[in-house]
Amino acid sequence: MTTTVRTRVAIIGAGPAGLLLSHLLAKSGIESVVIDSRSRDEIEQTIRAGILEQGTVEVLDASGASSRALAEGHRHDGIELRFEGEGHRIDFQGLVGRSVWLYPQHRVLKDLIEVRLAEGQDVRFGVTAERVEGAEGARPRVFATDADGEPLEIDAEFVVGADGSRSVARTAVTGSQTGGYFREYPFAWFGILCEAPPSSEELIYSNSPNGFALISQRSDTVQRMYFQCDPDVDPESFTEEELWEHLQARVPGTTLKEGHIFQRDVLRFRSFVAHELRHGRVALVGDAAHTVPPTGAKGMNLAVADVILLGRALRALLLENDERPLDAYPETASRRIWKAQHFSWWMTSMLHVAPDATDFDRRRQVGELRSVVESEAGRRFLAEAYTGWPLDTAL
Ligand code: PHB
Repeated sequence: MTTTVRTRVAIIGAGPAGLLLSHLLAKSGIESVVIDSRSRDEIEQTIRAGILEQGTVEVLDASGASSRALAEGHRHDGIELRFEGEGHRIDFQGLVGRSVWLYPQHRVLKDLIEVRLAEGQDVRFGVTAERVEGAEGARPRVFATDADGEPLEIDAEFVVGADGSRSVARTAVTGSQTGGYFREYPFAWFGILCEAPPSSEELIYSNSPNGFALISQRSDTVQRMYFQCDPDVDPESFTEEELWEHLQARVPGTTLKEGHIFQRDVLRFRSFVAHELRHGRVALVGDAAHTVPPTGAKGMNLAVADVILLGRALRALLLENDERPLDAYPETASRRIWKAQHFSWWMTSMLHVAPDATDFDRRRQVGELRSVVESEAGRRFLAEAYTGWPLDTAL
């Protein structure tokens, strides 16, 4: 027997984009149902990036979605760019008067799930969306399978695909699951979590002849680090000692504080933007709409920027019958998306060493890094993008 649920907005995906959107809609009295194929535990335990732009933290705080990000996250006023054995600080506060916050994405998700459930949000875990139909009509539908394997239909006034890079909703918007602009990269990141004190107070983005490394943090006792690797590498193929050698070789001039490595993963990355962000009464947000490589930590921040725009557009549509903000959504969202695509691609290409890099390429890359760190305009460009372009946060 198929169960049919009626709601105003059906949201596929209980990641940061879907949950924040349900939160913002609820504040305007718009009811929604959120579904996700994963369990609550899986969602809360997935390890993702940790940097929130100032605007993201402000939105999470002001909307009541997560006040812990601001209260318990660590404010970072700069980063270090390291190359040829020397570190160069990019002073965000001095350059643009802004900061970023280190607060891991899974903590944002825990906060959001807690707040949504406390407010009585209908969030259904273990429910897999199969397809979306009726984008061109007044009541699009989500066809799904619930946690017991029974068919579930959600009949709504609007459907939002916040269902990540393997989005099911994308087909209803672009005509295919893969329809988009994309590029692949010939490398990946090897990520570790270790039990050690911080090796640096701020993040270190390091370019070296051996490739890229990022030294990030999680707490006083747990650190997150990454080094550039082959996308096909088996995470179990290294001993802990070898992992430390690889990391250490990519941050010349610094001595890392080593400790037990208790988690390891390989992150493949690519750049992707869906050809369309909206078709009729279905729209895409977050990773369903775009993916960025992790250098620069734009992923979740970009999802929040989409959600602010789409939330406003849905308010206008559903409360005032005004379609104009929704019509403008793809164009307005795309501007920021492509700036973030450029920034993430630029940071990636400037810091990583391509497997086929020539001596010319290597020297040019160091020239590029120098032209950033030795110029106030260059440093400011980086600081402005990293801390995030202004969001129109009038929620
Ligand atoms: C992280 O801490 O996981 C992190 C930080 C910055 C990035 C990517 C990942 O650019």
